[in-house]
Amino acid sequence: MRILGIESSCDECAAAVVEDGRTILSNIIATQIEVHARWNGVVPELASRMHAEWIQDVVDKAILEAGCSMADIDGIAVTARPGLAGALLVGLSFAKALAWATGKPFVGVNHILAHLYAPLLASDIAYPFIGLIVSGGHTLICRADGVDDISVMGTTIDDAAGEAFDKVAKHYQLGYPGGVAIDRLARQGDARACRFPVPFLYKGKQKTYDVSYSGLKTAAIRQLDQFWNPEYPRTDANLAAAFEKAAVDMLCGRLLDAARDSGIRTVVAGGGVAANTYLRSVLQQHDELRCYFPPLALCGDNGAMVAGMGYHLLQRGDRDGLDLNASPRVAGFRKLKG
Ligand code: KG4
Ligand code: ZN
Repeated sequence: MRILGIESSCDECAAAVVEDGRTILSNIIATQIEVHARWNGVVPELASRMHAEWIQDVVDKAILEAGCSMADIDGIAVTARPGLAGALLVGLSFAKALAWATGKPFVGVNHILAHLYAPLLASDIAYPFIGLIVSGGHTLICRADGVDDISVMGTTIDDAAGEAFDKVAKHYQLGYPGGVAIDRLARQGDARACRFPVPFLYKGKQKTYDVSYSGLKTAAIRQLDQFWNPEYPRTDANLAAAFEKAAVDMLCGRLLDAARDSGIRTVVAGGGVAANTYLRSVLQQHDELRCYFPPLALCGDNGAMVAGMGYHLLQRGDRDGLDLNASPRVAGFRKLKG
């Protein structure tokens, strides 16, 4: 079964053809990074306009590169939420029009769950597993029992992990996208130069799996003096290494707690921040866990993860009507935190 996946929730205009939820026949990603870099962040109106200009070419190229024609496509999957409303609408409207014109079944996909599906495009991973979804807009630690059977265990109570990277990088003008810039700089720095506080969050006396980035972000931006070790130079590289360590250690700490407490030994990460070099090395050091990451090319937004996830939904008979609307909200998990 060949599924065309379309993704336009943020600043990547992407389409892919994936066979049987696993074999990537094509994966076209047209990034708008250069345009948004000027503003040090995604400008929603510019994103929507560029998606509208690019989407036809991106989809055409995905089908061409897959060596097939629209007649060979069995279904269409598209990111319907969450994301920037105007950006989502471009991909969704395109997918609906294509489904209507060709009579192919189509289904809307949750972008966050698609990120968690990305590692399954490259590895055989059995459910259940503990999932870590870390992107520019979302941070979730969850138990996954199926492609869309997710129980949220922990989340951020304020900023998303990627957002914290982006904001710190923006403040110090380290580069754009911030997470990529900090990752690169951190490799030349020494995290011992600066020790940032890492919070533990409690509900009553019970430690939770939640994380919080606003304090760390503020510490990195405003209260630098007290955290620096005077024996180390105050370089951008040292700052990047220390911030990255604090941000990732907080996340991995809660993730490891969730794995230990649930007795589930398989951990799967997805989303832009799952590309982080330090995060990958920290998790891989845990021999007691089986850790899976998406290949680097599938950490960020792409159509393959949408097509892959869409395959499972379409195969079991899920269909969306042409009245499906885009939503900036993440809702749509079967189970939510109790
Ligand atoms: O999943 P994604 O491409 O888009 C969203 O759905 O948000 O994630 C983008 C986020 C950005 O915040 C970016 O700075 C971050 O992922 N990111 C990274 C790295 N590469 C991208 N953060 C840390 N280290 C990286 N290597
Ligand atoms: Zn994303």
